[in-house]
Amino acid sequence: MKAVQRVVVSPQEPIAQIKPYLHGHFAEHLGELIYSGIYVGSDSTVPNTDVIRDDVVAALQSLHIPVLRWPGGCFADDYHWRDGIGSREQRPLRINRHWGHTEEPNYFGTHEFLAFCRAIGAEPYFAGNVGSGTPAELSDWIEYCNFAGRSTLAEERRANGAHEPFGIRFWGIGNENWGCGGNMNPEQYAAEFCRFRNYASSYSGTEMQAIACGQNSADWGWTRRFFEYMQRNHLNRLGLVQGVAAHYYCGTAGTATQYSHAQWLELLAKAYAIEGAITGCRAIMDEYDPERRIKLIFDEWGTWHPVEAGKPPGGLYQQNTMRDACVAALTLDVFHNHADKLFMANIAQLINVLQALLLVSEDQCIKTPTYHVFDLYKPHQGAQAVRFITHADKVTDGGAAAPYCRTRYRNPKPFALRAVHGSASVRDSVLCVTVVNTHPAEAVELELVLRRAQCEEVEVVTLAAEDIHAHNTFAQPDFVHLSAPVTLQVRGDRVRIPLPAGSVARVQGSLV
Ligand code: AHR
Repeated sequence: MKAVQRVVVSPQEPIAQIKPYLHGHFAEHLGELIYSGIYVGSDSTVPNTDVIRDDVVAALQSLHIPVLRWPGGCFADDYHWRDGIGSREQRPLRINRHWGHTEEPNYFGTHEFLAFCRAIGAEPYFAGNVGSGTPAELSDWIEYCNFAGRSTLAEERRANGAHEPFGIRFWGIGNENWGCGGNMNPEQYAAEFCRFRNYASSYSGTEMQAIACGQNSADWGWTRRFFEYMQRNHLNRLGLVQGVAAHYYCGTAGTATQYSHAQWLELLAKAYAIEGAITGCRAIMDEYDPERRIKLIFDEWGTWHPVEAGKPPGGLYQQNTMRDACVAALTLDVFHNHADKLFMANIAQLINVLQALLLVSEDQCIKTPTYHVFDLYKPHQGAQAVRFITHADKVTDGGAAAPYCRTRYRNPKPFALRAVHGSASVRDSVLCVTVVNTHPAEAVELELVLRRAQCEEVEVVTLAAEDIHAHNTFAQPDFVHLSAPVTLQVRGDRVRIPLPAGSVARVQGSLV
């Protein structure tokens, strides 16, 4: 591989505004996410405000989380919202059927979730229950939350402490209804969607955004058959759909903390392949919705490693290394480069589950490398995405991955990607470029070329570690952290930036 790798950024070529929602998150009743991750009892010694952990709120406030999806996941299609309102002592004890048959005390319900959203400044996104619920149940939840006038449900909300309606806009009509949400085929789900959507009203100035269950990974048949049914079944029902939410997990290669260089590349290549899922999904949707009125969402994405030894198998607890950081950065860069096609994306999940931003244990809360990527990438939120072109060499895993892995990701060749990927945006004449050195062993000198634009100097912040397996632990919570900013001079139309192996960097400069 060449030591110098070139990328070109073209601030004069806008793509679209990067909706802040592309940096969205997801919190399911699963493992130790809600209970102990957010909610601690009122008698807890962990500092909290009305049962919600203060350290978690403080860590998340500064990230500017735009949207938070809840209560699942698979849990959503087994959740009955009335279980989670009213006096906590009176709430029923249920079984969390999908995630290890653990106890679900329902202490964290609608009001607690919304208090948490307010504390961290996130807009709520509710996932409704289609698999085991009824249209009436979902309709009641919406009325309870959003109706400003007089009705028994609105009065009940007031009696539970919320005089004003919550104004929840985003409502998922089920989750993974091709699987844990009811094992339906696309036509069955489309019919259910129409039935549930019919009773899901807009109230009191809050315009309902009904989000349909979308495809998993490369299951194009789901998207096509859903849209086909919606458009052609007796009457065109596409008007009922405001969004479609697909899922894309890049999975694992090795374990969360143990992997070879080939497995590093395999996982990054699988993560990068989300680009094909975005363009493929949008291409099918465009056939039915050429004006792109229906929003494309990826409301679950990220890594999925084997559960950490000693943790309950149903809790999906995993460590988070520099490899997860590179997956997050690559994926966010793909989202920015397709800002014209995507409306929202939610990484799975917020705390203690899958590709978490925070790991929490008793009274300790640590930030993962993935957290630092979201922090580093914040300036992209709401900015104008502009063209980013990589001319970097291709790197491959040399065909080391097991054949079934390659088949699953529709990739018969060795996993490959460029040595440098990234994205760029402009806001108020400030250029922000983010880049990932995808190579696990080779540092590169990045040559960043500005096409028809000028900057005098740039400020660079890097997320890097000597060892590609580096991660934060409760004993060493800041082992992986962002570097201090470094200022570099731009010479002519280009600037050289050192990028350590397996690192992420943000480059910012004022355009003159
Ligand atoms: O994020 C964990 C699970 O992954 C979710 O509950 C489900 O929607 C998906 O299969």
